[in-house]
Amino acid sequence: MTAEKVKQVSMNSEIIRIRNDFPILQQNVYGKPLIYFDNAATSQKPRQVLQALSEYYSKQNANIHRGVHYLSQQASEMYEQVRVKVRDFIHARSEHEIIFTRGTTESINLVAHSFGNAFVNKGDEIIITAMEHHSNIVPWQLMCETRKAVLKVIPINDNGELLMESFNQMLSERTKLISVVHISNSLGTINPVKQIIEAAHQRSIPVMIDAAQSAIHEEINVAQLDCDFLAMSSHKMLGPTGAGVLYGKMELLEKMPPYQGGGDMIQSVSFNETTYQNPPFRFEAGTQNIADVIAFGAALDYLNALDRKDLLRHEQQLLQYAAEQVQKIDGIRIIGTAKEKASILSFIAEGVNAMDLGMYLDTQGIAVRTGHHCTEPVMDFFKIPGTIRASFLFYNTINEVDAFVSALEKGITLLNKK
Ligand code: ALA
Repeated sequence: MTAEKVKQVSMNSEIIRIRNDFPILQQNVYGKPLIYFDNAATSQKPRQVLQALSEYYSKQNANIHRGVHYLSQQASEMYEQVRVKVRDFIHARSEHEIIFTRGTTESINLVAHSFGNAFVNKGDEIIITAMEHHSNIVPWQLMCETRKAVLKVIPINDNGELLMESFNQMLSERTKLISVVHISNSLGTINPVKQIIEAAHQRSIPVMIDAAQSAIHEEINVAQLDCDFLAMSSHKMLGPTGAGVLYGKMELLEKMPPYQGGGDMIQSVSFNETTYQNPPFRFEAGTQNIADVIAFGAALDYLNALDRKDLLRHEQQLLQYAAEQVQKIDGIRIIGTAKEKASILSFIAEGVNAMDLGMYLDTQGIAVRTGHHCTEPVMDFFKIPGTIRASFLFYNTINEVDAFVSALEKGITLLNKK
């Protein structure tokens, strides 16, 4: 056996071992083994995460930061331990730079609202890109409307890559913030965020990174990137829904007003004057999503125990193989052909409605997403109503890709005959 072959065999056994941790992947759908290719929408959860949730509710459930009793102290400690785990996972300087939110969308809304109120004035400019998810468009539109600011958009080329020349020309003394998606959820493009941050910092402009897709596929190092804000979601990283993170540099967070008011975020309240806690607590009003944050900690432990570099190589193999195979089918056009791509494959099939094809694939036990993927401006750019999107995670296999391609061929033939 060649060294390459030995490596491949051990990789295959590692994937089998990992798959066994995910109960949901063991089931049949419509009598067919489930093939889950909708990982960009949400990842599946290993039993370690499910156990963490159930154990927390069975043994520690209590409200945090408020009780002197045993359970409250246990729950508070577990919750705060996850803050430290997130700090280490993304290489932040301090756990006080980690704010728990409901997910990427809330993290972006928090910055748009709070940073907007603190720093954005009439005529100022915010820059985003043409490939943003709606969650990195609408909060800025809302903020620009309130603050009378202007939203600028970095254009893309036909491969779905940013036009960096245009970006550089857009920067001015009026630019107040840049918010950029790291990996596009509909095109798979990996954006040159480091380059964007460096250019922005030359003019002292802060940069926010939407890491919703990248946090599971890339190693996130906020110290190296030197980004000012970063948002991510637990549910795309093997953790539960309803929990997420906003990372922010302390020097900015300290100057930002609260996003929501309520319990736990104050130092003292009176009818004359209310004072607020320091970050991160200033930004965590009310009872938090304690159980899901704790289970998110279990997801981070699970990810930390994996050889993520090898798994990333495996995801790249899945992407390349799937792209080669689908392109052999007549009438398929891949949307998103950037040089740097994550394991997200969007395509259209000439003459076949994406939704119909998605529904056919579903009957074969194959879960893909169809439509505009909450990136309508991307679809407008390519002049299409939507795509079929297969998004792979490390627990997917080459055999699954083969089954998917064969079902795709059958589906297209069937639907073309109608
Ligand atoms: N943002 C998620 C997706 O791309 C929901 O499907």
